[in-house]
Amino acid sequence: MNGVKPRINNKHNSNSINRWSKSLRYPIAMCPDVTNVAIAPCVLVMVGLPARGKTFMAKKLTRYLNWIGINTKEFNVGAYRRDKMGDYKSHEFFRNDNPDAMEKREQCAMTALNDLCNWLDSGGEVGVFDATNTTRERRNKILQLCTNERCYKTFFIESVCDDPTIIESNVKEVKISSPDYKMMDKEKAVEDFQKRINHYEIFYEPLDEEHDRPLSFIKIFNQGEKFVVNRVKGHVQSRAVYYLMNIHVLPRTIYISRHGETEMNLEGRIGGDSNISENGKNFAEKLKEYLERENIENLRVWTSLLKRTKQTVENINAPKEHWKALNEIDAGVCEGMTYEEIATRYPDDFAARDRDKYHYRYPGGESYQDLVARLEPVIMELERQENVLVVCHQAVARCLLAYFMDQDSESLPYVKVPLHTIIKLTPIAYGCLVEHIPLNVNAVDTHREKPRVVSKGRSFDEAIRTVPVHPK
Ligand SMILES: *[C@@H]1O[C@H](CO)[C@@H](O)[C@H](O)[C@H]1NC(C)=O
Ligand SMILES: *[C@@H]1O[C@H](CO)[C@@H](O)[C@H](O)[C@H]1NC(C)=O
Repeated sequence: MNGVKPRINNKHNSNSINRWSKSLRYPIAMCPDVTNVAIAPCVLVMVGLPARGKTFMAKKLTRYLNWIGINTKEFNVGAYRRDKMGDYKSHEFFRNDNPDAMEKREQCAMTALNDLCNWLDSGGEVGVFDATNTTRERRNKILQLCTNERCYKTFFIESVCDDPTIIESNVKEVKISSPDYKMMDKEKAVEDFQKRINHYEIFYEPLDEEHDRPLSFIKIFNQGEKFVVNRVKGHVQSRAVYYLMNIHVLPRTIYISRHGETEMNLEGRIGGDSNISENGKNFAEKLKEYLERENIENLRVWTSLLKRTKQTVENINAPKEHWKALNEIDAGVCEGMTYEEIATRYPDDFAARDRDKYHYRYPGGESYQDLVARLEPVIMELERQENVLVVCHQAVARCLLAYFMDQDSESLPYVKVPLHTIIKLTPIAYGCLVEHIPLNVNAVDTHREKPRVVSKGRSFDEAIRTVPVHPK
């Protein structure tokens, strides 16, 4: 992709483009349509006044794209400013009659944008540019640099809010979470932030359906009340749009748990479709009691199609849905085996899995990477829902948690998800609060750490060194 020379457009195109370019004065990209690379580098540019949830969206979208396997990085100009200017003092810095500060802010924005471009040039796939100055002039500059000079696809994501309650709640959120205000008195912070917003309002030029028709963008009104989507180009933009149209910001909690311990867990066997054990039944009871104590509003319960998850939620009084997509990773020819048996019968496979657990696919089965793809609709639906308890399986829970906890693919298959423990996820500021709530019911340990020796031809003892003990 890099170094691709812009192609001269055919007559028809150049005519229509010239028409736009004259009336709109946007720089015109003359880049070839890149179809020979899976993903052309893409810049997602956040647009909107402060306190419109831009950073929230930027960070969340970045996390999602990384989780589905698109190498994405977010560049927050505010962080560059703090780096360069040191601690934030007051809104005065954002006045438009403060030329010195204006120049510094411009420099920070351009440094961030340059870093973003360099990162894309070095193999990144999507750069998310989270800045505030939302003028046409600034958008032009970005298009010039990203689309014209480098032939990246550029997509604008604008958040527009005129609902005072949303703005107020975002201002409060920023006051709590922004490093700019961590040292400031809370009342003073709100006042300062409001003034800062006013400075931006003077120059703000929203994306306009007519004026900006040649650009690719989504305008999000009042955090999802209404959307305007224009000229979506390519896979990344389409995934981003779909995602942004499904997320919400209502307060809610997601509970993730594995099924109760099973007969096969006791024998150290993987996969299968066995019943839960006595301990497992005990957990099911404790889980029910826990949920009753918590008294969660409109709780929905999701399980897989496997017996152990259905048995675990049997007595819970809530609407239930059973998802095939939540079934445990398919271990193919290794289904129902112990790790010791796999190490004996498929030693090379067992070692290959330890070398790259995320990408390794069981013969006739699945890899963690396959599992993430299978779980993507589950994540999307979770984003749309409010309070949900997901009762699933070790590998499935690891994939789901990796999404919420922003874990990379290397650490994902080693995320600890002990049996008989509820993992409670609460959205906070730009991330997620993760609490482990053990219900104190005995269970076997099923977590196998990556062993030290992962080479082909290792001894049986090396191969099973980290296999947890199983009583049967
Ligand atoms: C935004 O950019 C415009 C033009 O680039 C500049 O005149 C203005 O002062 C900037 N405003 C803010 C609040 O950054
Ligand atoms: C599993 O439990 C069901 C009833 O709960 C029972 O009919 C069945 O025999 C059990 N299966 C095994 C393998 O123990």
